[in-house]
Amino acid sequence: MYDILKSRRSIRKFTDKNIEEEVLEEILKGALMSPSSRSIRPWELVVVRNKDTLSSLSRCRGAHSALIGGADTAVVIIADTRLSDVWVEDTSILAAILQLEAHAKGLGSCWVQIRNRSKEEGVTAEEYIKELLKIPEDYNVECVIALGYPAESKTPHEEDKLPIGKIRREQY
Ligand SMILES: Cc1cc2nc3c(=O)[nH]c(=O)nc-3n(C[C@H](O)[C@H](O)[C@H](O)COP(=O)(O)O)c2cc1C
Repeated sequence: MYDILKSRRSIRKFTDKNIEEEVLEEILKGALMSPSSRSIRPWELVVVRNKDTLSSLSRCRGAHSALIGGADTAVVIIADTRLSDVWVEDTSILAAILQLEAHAKGLGSCWVQIRNRSKEEGVTAEEYIKELLKIPEDYNVECVIALGYPAESKTPHEEDKLPIGKIRREQY
């Protein structure tokens, strides 16, 4: 696990190689094992692989989301906000687990923030995605995780450059 954490980086460039269906399925099933408050599991995942839809999705936040256009798959992480007041935490944990599982399988991924972000003046990224993907009214969109085989390699985080001072022991 430590080696996986050490080598994980956000990947924004992807090759044309398709993610095998069984690999994708295992990543998604792994995500469904995520912990959630009171085990309510308010999240749901919209898995997008259609190239035209990926292209439309990539326009949800301008330059910040353009990378989705080159991805093999985008996992749109949503939650039924009627079910839990901590859906932000629950969806975020699921997204992080999904990214780690993807990395462990040799895939690259990047989180694209949707909640609290705009597409353009007067249109939220969430409104745009909900209309595009026909997501019901009572759901909110936390983020999109773009997935694909990596076409860029990044240096791992260096252990001796970690912000170790952020760890305070016993008292602040
Ligand atoms: C909550 C959150 C929101 C993020 N939003 C975006 C985004 O909208 N677009 C993007 O390209 N990267 C996004 N990222 C990826 C970060 O830019 C990236 O994790 C950070 O620069 C550290 O790099 P690393 O992941 O390679 O360690 C986001 C990451 C997190 C955790």
